[in-house]
Amino acid sequence: MNIREATVEDLLGMQNCNLHNLPENYTMRYYFYHALTWPQLSYVAQDPKGRIVGYILGKMEEEPADGVPHGHVTSISVLRSYRRLGLAKKLMTQSQEAMRDVFGAKYVSLHVRETNRAAIGLYRDTLGFEVHEVEKGYYADGEDAYAMRLNF
Ligand code: ACO
Repeated sequence: MNIREATVEDLLGMQNCNLHNLPENYTMRYYFYHALTWPQLSYVAQDPKGRIVGYILGKMEEEPADGVPHGHVTSISVLRSYRRLGLAKKLMTQSQEAMRDVFGAKYVSLHVRETNRAAIGLYRDTLGFEVHEVEKGYYADGEDAYAMRLNF
């Protein structure tokens, strides 16, 4: 599986993957915004036929409330039949390195549903994220989010 920086040509494939995997979906305009503003922070995983089977959509927080430059993972997902192969771990690591090295991020943040066992396993157990706070009713259906962080 090939992991590389996402380009504007990949955005439809990334959106397709997102629609398959998550209820949190974004406009194509928002995908473009990420790719044009922080091209170093979004990555794709491609199968040998060139199909996008996973992606990470990353950004820098533009006006950090704490004044500390940091990155934020807007969305990550991997198609079902390509899971548990280490793809998400690699996508996260690549984006995190670029947040730190290219943009001087001091930490990375994200939101995750409190019932999302797989993603919490990835963030907390594999990558070392910690729960910073619980955001009540963060999701459209009322579920709470863990706001998680990893210091660099
Ligand atoms: N249960 C428990 N732990 C898991 C699971 C699971 N189902 N899946 C991954 N992990 C943990 C394990 O510790 C795993 O290491 P191991 O395989 O050596 O045990 C580690 O994460 C790394 O797993 P990867 O293979 O890198 O993860 P994968 O490529 O399967 O992708 C992901 C994980 C992205 C969460 C995938 O399950 C997915 O796409 N889920 C649906 C979409 C989703 O929930 N995305 C995250 C939303 S939050 C956000 O976007 C900020």
